[in-house]
Amino acid sequence: MTKRVRTAVLISGRGSNMMALIEAARKKDFPAEIALVLSDEPRAAGIKAAQAAGVAAVPLDYRTFSGKTEFETTVTAALVAARAELICLAGFMRILSPAFVERWRGRILNIHPSLLPDLRGLDTHERALAEGRAEHGCTVHFVTAELDAGPIVAQARVPVLPGDDAGLLAARVLVEEHRIYPQALDAAARAVLAARACSAG
Ligand code: GRF
Repeated sequence: MTKRVRTAVLISGRGSNMMALIEAARKKDFPAEIALVLSDEPRAAGIKAAQAAGVAAVPLDYRTFSGKTEFETTVTAALVAARAELICLAGFMRILSPAFVERWRGRILNIHPSLLPDLRGLDTHERALAEGRAEHGCTVHFVTAELDAGPIVAQARVPVLPGDDAGLLAARVLVEEHRIYPQALDAAARAVLAARACSAG
């Protein structure tokens, strides 16, 4: 296969979606490779998991930066040093600035635990239950300057069942997250490879 698309994963915590991407990228024909994992929280469990999987991991501590601009400058430097072409946000709990999003336009994916455009923002499982919805799910989308509003790449639905609480519902959604995020990265990476082939003539 042509050289695979170098991909960075940004996390803040557990990193189960990150691991799903790392596992998928182990397959010979997968069009992306996970070149870097970066967190804004040094104690993120996902950092240890990435290191154990043999992936380069950069644990940043957001609190040590003067603010978003300085933090994002450091993130960009790490991404450039890793020659990242795609970025997957996977439980990354910071809103990126419009300038950062523009710098990586069309190159940032996010996974959100709802059927976007429904339930943008936080606490989606609690809100799905409170609103008495029959269905819930997850979405992978490109990141734009507007929160949880960019073009949708993949979506999966799950039923809301009698007796569900937020934990049960989140677990049912998470199974689907781990299924569709690798599929979405596969599609996005193939598009990058196709663009590369075009520009090479
Ligand atoms: C996932 O539910 C994801 O959709 C949301 O945050 C959670 C992260 O979980 N954005 P993990 O760190 O990937 O395990």
